[in-house]
Amino acid sequence: MKRVGIIGAMELEVEALKAQMNVRQTYTRASMEFFSGSLNDTDVVIVRSGVGKVNAALCAQILVDVFQVTHIINTGVAGSLNADLDIGDILVSEEAIYHDMDVRVFGYPIGQVPSMDVVGFPANKDMIRIAIETCLEVNPDINVRSGRVATGDQFISSKEVKEAIIANVKGDCAEMEGAAIAHAAYLSHVPFVIIRAISDKADDSAEMDYPTFEREAAKHSANLVAHMICKL
Ligand code: ADE
Repeated sequence: MKRVGIIGAMELEVEALKAQMNVRQTYTRASMEFFSGSLNDTDVVIVRSGVGKVNAALCAQILVDVFQVTHIINTGVAGSLNADLDIGDILVSEEAIYHDMDVRVFGYPIGQVPSMDVVGFPANKDMIRIAIETCLEVNPDINVRSGRVATGDQFISSKEVKEAIIANVKGDCAEMEGAAIAHAAYLSHVPFVIIRAISDKADDSAEMDYPTFEREAAKHSANLVAHMICKL
């Protein structure tokens, strides 16, 4: 049976979804509160992971092991690395890659975890298609595109760092959890997709823009997730 795990790093990324769901049970593990129940007639588990890669990977693994989720969706905001992605637009992951994994000294490209068979973790094709179709249907005014999510334990707020990430891993957006969730999902063969709405441009304006636009951007992403889960 389908059960969708929905992860947001921060409360504002999951609060709208939690408010709409019918909660059957709450469960605490690794200091994270998991809300299981239904949303739009779909079995879901919604959780705030906390910020960063370790929180995100732990959270995804708990969804797999304890709740046996069949799909994972990461919802939230991101900084744009692509001139075609403006504040408020939505990026649907084709894949997710670490921008701060660097073992070039032993011949690995930036992003690749040594001894893993992929550099970026591929998102599920059906979930990508459903996310984009649903977005065009329910948010026709919002620009949506698919692309590469670049993840690291760093808030990107300088032009130089932004340009280095673009050069190193060709990401379309920067955030702090996606590839860690993707990594955990990949190891357990659970299909996933990352949905991120743009809150800032990951450059010198990010410090000002992020607090101004994060709430509205988080809503765009959560709204798409709420509408797409019944189609999975
Ligand atoms: N999440 C939203 N904006 C971000 C940025 N600029 N860097 C990292 N994570 C983000």
